[in-house]
This record gives sequence, C-alpha cells and structure tokens, in this order.
Amino acid sequence: MSLTVYRKSHFNAAHRLYRSDWDDEKNNAVFGKCNNPNFHGHNYELEVGVTGTINQETGFLIDIVELKNIIKEEVEDYLDHKNLNLDVPEFKNLNPTMENIAVLIWDKLNAKLLGRFKLSVTLYETPRNFVVYTGN
Ligand code: NI
Repeated sequence: MSLTVYRKSHFNAAHRLYRSDWDDEKNNAVFGKCNNPNFHGHNYELEVGVTGTINQETGFLIDIVELKNIIKEEVEDYLDHKNLNLDVPEFKNLNPTMENIAVLIWDKLNAKLLGRFKLSVTLYETPRNFVVYTGN
C-alpha cells in the first residue's frame, strides 16, 4: 500500500528572465514583462509530495516535522526574500523560470531524503501558472 504525504510551503523571490546573448527586442518578445531589467517579485507556493509506505511502528509515512525542517532549510532559507539571479549561484547562468526553480528544489530535497521516497514538487509562480516535477 503506497500513499503520498504533502507539505505546503511558501517563499517570495525576485527574478528577471533574459539571455545576455540576445538583444532587447528578442528578450522582450520571448520573456515579456519577466524581462524587466529592474527585476520583479513572485509569491511562490510550493507543494511537496512524498510517496512511500506506512511505517508500521510509528504509523507515519515520514515524520512530518522532519519534512517541514528539510523544506525550511533547503528551500525557504535558500530562496525566500532572495534575488534569484543575483543571490542563488545555480541561477548565475541559468534562467530562474518556474521550471528551473522546481528542478532545483527537487534536487535539493531529494539529496536530503536520500532516495527513501518518491518525491514530487509542485511550484506555483502565480495562482494560475504552475509546474510539477517528479524527477523524470
Ligand atoms: Ni516573473
């Protein structure tokens, strides 16, 4: 019997989407408002899903406090109130799109969970725009 435990989280961050090897016209055409040179913010909502089986001794799939602490340390402390382009080394030469942010979050959480669970990351950049990444 397999089931999934979810934990929600939240962070605010600023970004700019652009390519330095493209001119302004092409950057504006592809990235629109997200190419604002002075950056802009998003309220990111995160849902982390951990799939596994129930530990018969505890009745837990995962200790939710452990999951909460891992998300706090790996995601909130790392991304909240940051300028993703300037403050987060992974985005020095990689556009901080919601797709790339979701992959970064998945990689960081999966490294901490040591492959004990199947992990899914759902990241909302706006209430209507979101991405799901399950590591495949
Ligand atoms: Ni944006």
